[in-house]
Amino acid sequence: MTWTRKHLLDIESLSPEEIITVLDTAKAFKAVGERAIKKVPALRGKTVVNLFVEPSTRTRTSFELSEQRLSADIINFNTEASSLKKGETLKDTARNLEALNVDFIVIRHSASGAPAFLSRVLQASVINAGDGAHEHPTQALLDAFTIRERKGRIAGLKVTILGDILYSRVARSDVWALTKLGAQVTLCGPPTLVPREFEQMGAKVTCDVEEAIRDADIINLLRIQHERQRKAMFPSLGEYTSFFGLSKARLARTKPDALIMHPGPINRGVEIDSNIADSDRSVILQQVTNGLAVRMAVLFLVNGGKGPAEVGG
Ligand code: CP
Repeated sequence: MTWTRKHLLDIESLSPEEIITVLDTAKAFKAVGERAIKKVPALRGKTVVNLFVEPSTRTRTSFELSEQRLSADIINFNTEASSLKKGETLKDTARNLEALNVDFIVIRHSASGAPAFLSRVLQASVINAGDGAHEHPTQALLDAFTIRERKGRIAGLKVTILGDILYSRVARSDVWALTKLGAQVTLCGPPTLVPREFEQMGAKVTCDVEEAIRDADIINLLRIQHERQRKAMFPSLGEYTSFFGLSKARLARTKPDALIMHPGPINRGVEIDSNIADSDRSVILQQVTNGLAVRMAVLFLVNGGKGPAEVGG
């Protein structure tokens, strides 16, 4: 399958073959990252703006490093010191950046749909680095990459996503990616945070945590997104931890080879016991490592790369 898209806005619109193309291309880039010389010239002469209007550690730094590894020129937009603070609109900000002959805009924004909006008003390629509670496509791609790398497949696996589903762009993108690739996805959390509407996306919905974790091959934990909740969705954090947190006792009731994932940032002692986060069962930092290869693959493909066979050196 050859990649033909100019933008990466979501997972929902991707075909399974397109997702596999990204994963295979990322595998080739991971091999490049293990060589003595980790840089390739794929984006030489191209300019990328990292337009993060919402905080980020993992996504922002791994996009920046992936752009460096691809030999791009990089502008790290500083929102706090920008004219957005003086009331300039996102569209005007982005069009002014484009007037500097920018080729790619990597955008994180609190408004769902902001990347799609920019893709309609700009000539540049737009990559969604997380928009509101809508989607976080590169997170889902790196999650799928990590699962495939560790388990050798995705089809047929049971994946439980546990936590604040309602406000999670990661949950939405993961459900699209993993169901398209043949996994059985179960969503679990307090009833106020796991709406039944997700069943229409092909996921199973339950509030029974023991049932959700018992047979899971993958347990992907999500944090409570206080910044998006407009009212209390459960009585207290302590109660959340006791009913839905992954404790040592709960871990003992999972399959011994079930992988523990988390997109980060983690709230130690809330959704995950601190020792479990640092244990051999956790692949949380491997997810971060794989994010670099996945983001290199995405930039390479939206720049016109066709697939893994073109990743040379
Ligand atoms: N997983 C993730 O999106 O983390 P950051 O918010 O730190 O980028």
